[in-house]
Amino acid sequence: MCGIVGYIGKENEISTLFYGLKKLEYRGYDSSGLAFFNGKNFKCVKSVGNMDRLKTKLNLSEKFSCGIGHTRWATNGAVILENTHPVISQSGEWILIHNGIIENAEELKQRYKIETLGNTDSEIVANLLEKKIAGSSLEKIRDVCSELKGSWAFLILNRNEENRIYIAKRKSPIYFCDSESGKLISSDPICFPSKEYFSMYDNNIGFIEKDKIAVYDANLKLISPKKYIFKNKEELGNKGKYEHFMLKEIKETPERINKICEKYTEDYLEKIFKKNILSSVKFIKIIGCGSAYHSGLMGAYYFRKNLRIESEAYLASEYKSSRQVINKDDLFIFVSQSGETADTIECLKMVRRRGAKTIVLTNVLESSMAKLSSVVLPIYAGPEIAVASTKAYSCQVAVFYILTKYFKKLLGEEIDFEKEKDKLLVAAEKISDLNEEEIQNISICCEKVFFLGKGKDYITSLEASLKFKEITYINSQCCPIGELKHGSLAVIDDCSKSLIFLSSKKLGKKVLNGVHEITSRKGKVLVISAFQGLVKTSDKVESYFLNCRGLSSETMPLVFTVFAQYLAYFNCIARNLNPDQPRNLAKSVTVE
Ligand code: AGP
Repeated sequence: MCGIVGYIGKENEISTLFYGLKKLEYRGYDSSGLAFFNGKNFKCVKSVGNMDRLKTKLNLSEKFSCGIGHTRWATNGAVILENTHPVISQSGEWILIHNGIIENAEELKQRYKIETLGNTDSEIVANLLEKKIAGSSLEKIRDVCSELKGSWAFLILNRNEENRIYIAKRKSPIYFCDSESGKLISSDPICFPSKEYFSMYDNNIGFIEKDKIAVYDANLKLISPKKYIFKNKEELGNKGKYEHFMLKEIKETPERINKICEKYTEDYLEKIFKKNILSSVKFIKIIGCGSAYHSGLMGAYYFRKNLRIESEAYLASEYKSSRQVINKDDLFIFVSQSGETADTIECLKMVRRRGAKTIVLTNVLESSMAKLSSVVLPIYAGPEIAVASTKAYSCQVAVFYILTKYFKKLLGEEIDFEKEKDKLLVAAEKISDLNEEEIQNISICCEKVFFLGKGKDYITSLEASLKFKEITYINSQCCPIGELKHGSLAVIDDCSKSLIFLSSKKLGKKVLNGVHEITSRKGKVLVISAFQGLVKTSDKVESYFLNCRGLSSETMPLVFTVFAQYLAYFNCIARNLNPDQPRNLAKSVTVE
């Protein structure tokens, strides 16, 4: 995923474009660049590294009236200046920034004998524009787009047209709005000062000038762009008193769970679903990526336990290629914080084509996924900026929990819905009570870390392990504790530490067998347990008591998860790393 901005309007300082782009740094931060007309000349300034490096190359008070900017997360071509956007065609006529992936770029490069400085698909497109001799710029862009396969949000400048920004979209998000000083374009409407903004449909192209916006379909028929109102504008993120977004966002978890409980009344759910969505449903299938997949696993666990309906979670990146059977009586739930993850979107589109029922569970109601489904469940996490998902994961789990109870009622079971929801509020309190100082003192200094658990604790371990590796860069694996003896024990040694989650007394014995298996291979163990005195400590075995008194077993994972998020955060800080911008990752991944 990459961040894109554009501006055309009254003369302005280049700092406005720079800081607009800075807001999108969460979308990618391994290189960035701006291209603009400053009244006399055209300029293109690029840098590898994060945007602070770009800043040193710019005169922020320099004036401009038309410009584009890009912050990159490399998916196509290495992180080098030649691959940094904007990319420029050989003669310098076309300047282009791109979010997405052109699947047939190599084929086009060969066919049109295109030479490039770097090795991105985007540079091939800029040069392909140059190969088109006939027609206006708009027609050339239309012709080029018709030859491309894949996904794109392009902003394009033509060196000879300094009062116009061309725009093209397929699958990747791109929005624009009218502000007092001029027109703004961005891959995320959080950049816009106004609540009202517009988007294009797939395969649309167009241009934006100081006083004009023109959007066309693929046949160059003029069409009206789609209008949106940004609902969460006031909540847009800043770090407040915290050093990192991640810490701030973890700390917001209890208040967000409270918000979910307040919003998710039975009436509210009835309005969303309109009719009994469970009628004739035989299988609930949940699809997502990364943390969203993990929350889906927890959702499937809740459904199986409470509804006795077969339920499974699937990784979106695998779903399409694993020859899954889709039946009419399947109910699909797509989970995504951003609502923009390409793998999940593709599955959603496929499932909809097959006519199955779909629900989207997302944090961004304006997202592509939300627009694709008639049933959308907001997770009310508020903006999540840090790359590592924290409060959004917990909110997804909380919404799954509430949904389970609602479904249970739909199936005719007598339950006190409000009372069930209250259990979430108790969990929120326990999360607020977590002892940060104690967690900060748990320093994990070893070559490899294993996160282990059984049942729902295994799901928590999956999420804990992902979070830990994502921001500490320590090699971390997750394994169901019972599976250790089927292979993973081979890599347990005195350079490893195993963190075991234990929230169920019933499973205590089996978990303790695992502890024994590890320590007899010289591995060190830390058991994070909801029960005191269950684990015998020794020079190899430590134990941490997580106070879950008064919690239902279904809400305990929330407390364990937030514990794991703090643990990852503090260990990341201890290693002098930036948790908000982990290497090689971006907040949402808009390429398959
Ligand atoms: C979580 O910490 C990750 N950064 C990542 O796994 C994320 O959950 C995944 O990419 C899915 O994103 P989405 O929820 O926006 O679809």
